[in-house]
Amino acid sequence: MEKRLIWDIPTRLFHWLLVACILAQYLTAEVFDAIDWHFKIGYFTLGLILFRLCWGFVGTTYAKFSQFLTGPGKVVAYAKTLTNKHSEEHAGHNPLGGWMVIALLLLVAAQGISGLFIGDDIFSNGPYYDAVSDATRDVMNAIHHTAFNVLLAAIVLHVGAVVFYARYKKQLLVPAMLHGKKTTKAQGISSSRLLVAAILALIVIAAMYVFIEVLPPEPIVEEFFY
Ligand code: HEM
Ligand code: HEM
Repeated sequence: MEKRLIWDIPTRLFHWLLVACILAQYLTAEVFDAIDWHFKIGYFTLGLILFRLCWGFVGTTYAKFSQFLTGPGKVVAYAKTLTNKHSEEHAGHNPLGGWMVIALLLLVAAQGISGLFIGDDIFSNGPYYDAVSDATRDVMNAIHHTAFNVLLAAIVLHVGAVVFYARYKKQLLVPAMLHGKKTTKAQGISSSRLLVAAILALIVIAAMYVFIEVLPPEPIVEEFFY
């Protein structure tokens, strides 16, 4: 067993930026009523998710979806060993955790995408507010408000699982998400592929600019007569 690099820098940076963004999104919507910041950080969060989805195909070994997404057979077999204190430690995400990663990514995506279609009933509307009907807006509003509760439940489960692994199974997962290294028999990664990550980040920034600034329709200005 040797200390080897498992989580590349982009994956780790993605994770902790995502945590900061979710916290900021909660604070800007529920505590400080800072809707302008809520929009800006929301676009950044959507960019992070887009980056991670692409990184799941072009990233390093353990960041790839093909490495940690397994079929139901392996998931069930792994689930049966969950309460076994000495079950095999995975270098990357375990078969259950892998699907939890997808659930978390999709929930944040649903939250961000639905936000693009809604408004705060005062002056601020998402960029696609005028692109859809009232009925669609209502659905998006319902998603934006309920998905956050589902996301919170998933986060509690996620952090609960990390604590369970630390306390019960004596597997410390957090340090590896910080410095990237795990003591393992598995092969480590040789680099974080930072050049590929930088190019991908530029493509994502360009794509987000097009989605948010170029494609949305001109806002409809309503006139009020008193
Ligand atoms: C807003 C809250 C959070 C969200 C949305 C979130 C989301 C995620 C996602 C998407 C991953 C997969 C990383 C990847 O492959 O890209 C992950 C992994 C991980 N997260 Fe979080 N996370 C949150 C909070 C936390 C906190 C507070 C901790 C520390 C206690 C934590 C510890 C970890 C660890 C250790 C992993 C790696 C798990 C493994 O080894 O398989 N997360 N998280
Ligand atoms: C991607 C992560 C996002 C998260 C986690 C998030 C979270 C939240 C939360 C918790 C609320 C309060 C809901 C409630 O009161 O029950 C909210 C409200 C809102 N969000 Fe988001 N949001 C995100 C992205 C966005 C985006 C991208 C937009 C638009 C561009 C947006 C627009 C809004 C609006 C207009 C409200 C209503 C504010 C009000 O009622 O005054 N959100 N969001």
